[in-house]
Amino acid sequence: MKKLLIIKLGGSVITYKDSPTPKARLDTIKRLAKEIAQIYQQNKYQLILVHGAGSFGHPIAKKYNLHQGMKTKQQELAFSLMDQQMIELNSIIIQALLKNNLPAISLPPRSFVQQSAGKFAGFDSQIIKNCLDQNQIPVLFGDGVLDDKWGCSIISGDTIVSYLAQKLHTHQVIFLSDVDGIYTSDPKTDQTAKLIPEISNKNFNKVIKGLTPTKRHDVTGEMQGKIISLQRGLKDVPVAIVNGLKAKTLQQVLMQASTGTKLLLN
Ligand code: IPE
Repeated sequence: MKKLLIIKLGGSVITYKDSPTPKARLDTIKRLAKEIAQIYQQNKYQLILVHGAGSFGHPIAKKYNLHQGMKTKQQELAFSLMDQQMIELNSIIIQALLKNNLPAISLPPRSFVQQSAGKFAGFDSQIIKNCLDQNQIPVLFGDGVLDDKWGCSIISGDTIVSYLAQKLHTHQVIFLSDVDGIYTSDPKTDQTAKLIPEISNKNFNKVIKGLTPTKRHDVTGEMQGKIISLQRGLKDVPVAIVNGLKAKTLQQVLMQASTGTKLLLN
């Protein structure tokens, strides 16, 4: 039996997240595709990939308030443009995977997820299981989706990861971020920030309190959003939050070579 790994490629890893216009980190995407192929070739794992939006989603979502709905003609067009940008980013990633002979297929969440007042209520995960049964690698992403109360809203890739990890029998979840893990405060602005090697039920609330939002164009809550959505879904599934900008981090996690932040909630 192969073990299921769910890997989130954070928007800050696959794009220059602070860029006001879409800008992909092409070299990082190529390297990660190669590293993912090495894992796949071991024949031990089934893979689900979920990627973030970074500069392909957050700046436009924030500019037109698409995380709070769609009422004007301008917002309708912006929603469509965001859709196009996400498909473009997804296609860059799928192409990099294909170059490494990985049978990746794109599953855009907007085509099967609807939210209600920004709240996610799940989706039929059978399609994902079917892909895995056919040895395909489903690639999902944080996306703009239709919303029955607001017109539209945003679903974070993190929410998708924690939902799937809960629905499917998941061996491990790996979040690739642009920093080494979760810190006591923002390591980019606070030199005294310390990496938290482990998060469990014991220190979870304390960790959440210490996290402060940064000024980025982020509409899905950054690290707080990340670990809050983890808390909802990821009970009893080991999670590693590691730096995807550093080579070989994925392999190190699978070899249990301690790196980043380990999270296990029950
Ligand atoms: C955000 O998804 C989706 C959009 C803004 C369209 P994520 O929350 O998963 O993206 P990152 O990883 O923060 O960039």
